[in-house]
Amino acid sequence: MEPTDWKNRIKELEEAHLILQQKLEISEVERSQLETLNQNQESLLKTVTQEFRDSEDILKSKMSQLEKALLNQQVMQLKLIEAEKMSALGILVAGIAHEINNPVNFIYGNITYVNDYTADILRLLEMYQNRYPETDVEIEDFIEKIDLNFLREDLLKTLSSMKVGSERIREIVLTLRNFARVDEAEKKPVNIHEGIDSTLLILQNLTKEKPGARAIEIVKNYGSLPKVECYAGQLNQVFMNLINNAIDALRERDQKRSLGEIEASPSQIAITTSIISENWAKISIKDNGLGMNEAIKGKIFDPFFTTKPVGHGTGLGLSISYQIVVDKHGGRLECISAVGEGTELAIEIPIANSRSSRSIELN
Ligand SMILES: Nc1ncnc2c1ncn2[C@@H]1O[C@H](COP(=O)(O)OP(=O)(O)O)[C@@H](O)[C@H]1O
Ligand SMILES: [Mg+2]
Repeated sequence: MEPTDWKNRIKELEEAHLILQQKLEISEVERSQLETLNQNQESLLKTVTQEFRDSEDILKSKMSQLEKALLNQQVMQLKLIEAEKMSALGILVAGIAHEINNPVNFIYGNITYVNDYTADILRLLEMYQNRYPETDVEIEDFIEKIDLNFLREDLLKTLSSMKVGSERIREIVLTLRNFARVDEAEKKPVNIHEGIDSTLLILQNLTKEKPGARAIEIVKNYGSLPKVECYAGQLNQVFMNLINNAIDALRERDQKRSLGEIEASPSQIAITTSIISENWAKISIKDNGLGMNEAIKGKIFDPFFTTKPVGHGTGLGLSISYQIVVDKHGGRLECISAVGEGTELAIEIPIANSRSSRSIELN
């Protein structure tokens, strides 16, 4: 090659190099543009993913809130049904008590007259017999047939036991009305002991002696309580739930004990009332039954918690009682229990709203 040719060739190569360099520079710029774009997209993706995750979390928490609300609603619904049942029961009991009251009063009111009339007739008979000791054969036969002497004695006894019976029915009717107290929508000062007594009367069938089961002893240690301002019907429902639970626990244990064991340490429910401070009353219901362990004790106020067989326990008794004592009366409901040590449920409630606390009287 000639030297000029070389020169041209070099020049050509130099130009080509320059063009290549320019192209390289351009592509470098493009690459860096692409890179920024890529970075932007990546960060956008990250933001979107994060937002998605956040919204997923929100959704999850919303879901769990909804689930809780649903459960709450179901519990409320059941409590409402239970409360409804109790108030329906109250209305029924009050209705029956009212219906029985009238006829019983007929009997009770008339027994005194029947008693007097009978005494008069017997006195008249006596007078006849004294005045005319000689009678005819027919009358003598009849006197023998009816065993007049026995009849005389027994008639008055019969009447007096009828009187005791009708007095008892009157008491029961009164107690039932007291227990039902359906007409009371407001807090009123009431005698707590009357409420406990009517509850015990209603549950008497479960505590008394039966074939194969000893009676459960009820020990009352009633203190001197003033009238307590409360929803009496609801508080009676609490007494009912607590005493019922004590009976269940005692009966469960008695089933596992021999008659000798039961007699050596009889099943017992002690009901104690007292004033614990200026405006607070305490009602304690204590059984000497099986007691419960810590795990169970921690759950007893949960709705639907029960250790009883299906069909026997609803698991609502204590949760409703808690609601009545704590939410409705501003009180406290506490459980003291240990395995083998029995169980005590202590209700503490204010005696009066501060407004009317001066007007309470002792009963
Ligand atoms: N006096 C008691 N002794 C032993 N366990 C009790 C007593 N009272 C309540 N419990 C326990 O608390 C649980 C919940 O009681 P409750 O709410 O009244 O429901 P239920 O009586 O329908 O089971 C009972 O199943 C029982 O395990
Ligand atoms: Mg119960």
